[in-house]
Amino acid sequence: MFENLKEQPADKILALMQLYREDPREQKIDLGVGVYKDASGNTPIMRAVKTAEKQLWEAETTKAYTGLAGDPGFSDAMIALVLGDAVPRANVAAAATPGGTGAVRQAFDLVRMASPSGKVYVSDPTWPNHLSILKHMGIPFTPYRYFDNETRAVDFDGMMADLAQAGKGDVVLLHGCCHNPTGANLNLSQWQAVVDLLLKTGATPMIDIAYQGFGDGLEEDAAGVRLVASSVPECLIAASCSKNFGIYRERTGLLMAVSNDAGAQKLNQGTLNYLNRQNYSFPPDYGARLVTMVLTDPALRADWAAELEEVRNSMLGLREQLAAELQRLSGSDRFGFIAQHRGMFSRLGASPEQVETLRRDHGIYMVGDSRLNIAGLNKSSVPILAEAIVKSGI
Ligand code: LMR
Repeated sequence: MFENLKEQPADKILALMQLYREDPREQKIDLGVGVYKDASGNTPIMRAVKTAEKQLWEAETTKAYTGLAGDPGFSDAMIALVLGDAVPRANVAAAATPGGTGAVRQAFDLVRMASPSGKVYVSDPTWPNHLSILKHMGIPFTPYRYFDNETRAVDFDGMMADLAQAGKGDVVLLHGCCHNPTGANLNLSQWQAVVDLLLKTGATPMIDIAYQGFGDGLEEDAAGVRLVASSVPECLIAASCSKNFGIYRERTGLLMAVSNDAGAQKLNQGTLNYLNRQNYSFPPDYGARLVTMVLTDPALRADWAAELEEVRNSMLGLREQLAAELQRLSGSDRFGFIAQHRGMFSRLGASPEQVETLRRDHGIYMVGDSRLNIAGLNKSSVPILAEAIVKSGI
């Protein structure tokens, strides 16, 4: 039977991670996979998370199963973090998932059950794994214009024109903040216009929020999600704790189904529980428990929020330094967008050949669509990157 299996395409981001590891050069710069790195190139365990781990080790007395949706305390804490008081808690069904990817996968599963002939509208470009999962599941999808390659900003008119085609039973996949891979984001009045359009067309929004706190701040980054959730009849939200809690390998995420009909919550919750049971039974608990402890203990929460601000500000500083260095070396303002973008990524707008030149000649690794991970830089690698970019004719 195994002979029937076909070679699967390698995930481009993960393949690049491997290529970087195998590169023997001393001077190499990893701007590939979306993992935060500090100035010394380490991905630290956040202080509050480390403290919570110690406390958990002391206090935990059992590893018996939790519930199918995970620990309810985790759902409560994460719903409050993402949605604030935008919608009544009773309107939200939620289930813990293995990471943000798990939440995305479960959300698509729910879409397939609820709207078998529905289409998913995805931004062009989007996180490649969105497309890969949709393909794998056989769910039809169609791109909507999002990124203007000239201005490196959101092509908002194109986006609105394309999303006007989505109808009831279709799903519009949006990035809550810090768009991956472009770094170009909607402002609040654009979010409002998207909401108005969704209300008109009846399409259901699904929001993937994986970088809350990495853009303009914890509250600011959730503003679009909150606006959508409080305005439309129903929506899906996939939240990741990998990046903003730095617990990548613990696989911690939450899927939320929000309905302004509180009566629907029971059915939605039952569906999320059922989906967890079919796919892996109980979701992982360790990371979720750490997140709950951090969010519900005022001292840990304050420390976590402060460290997240340090992380955010360091990325902003690197963006500004890189934009300034490129302006100096190129004598033009054409890289100003790097300082405007938010989150971990920016799409540089280089050709695949130029990306390859950066890797081959300069040991600089970025994803083939020229997405660069700002957090892979530090003060001393910024000038090296800027020089290589200009030398490569980008
Ligand atoms: C990324 O986009 O690099 C991250 O979300 C990691 C991943 O799983 O692709």
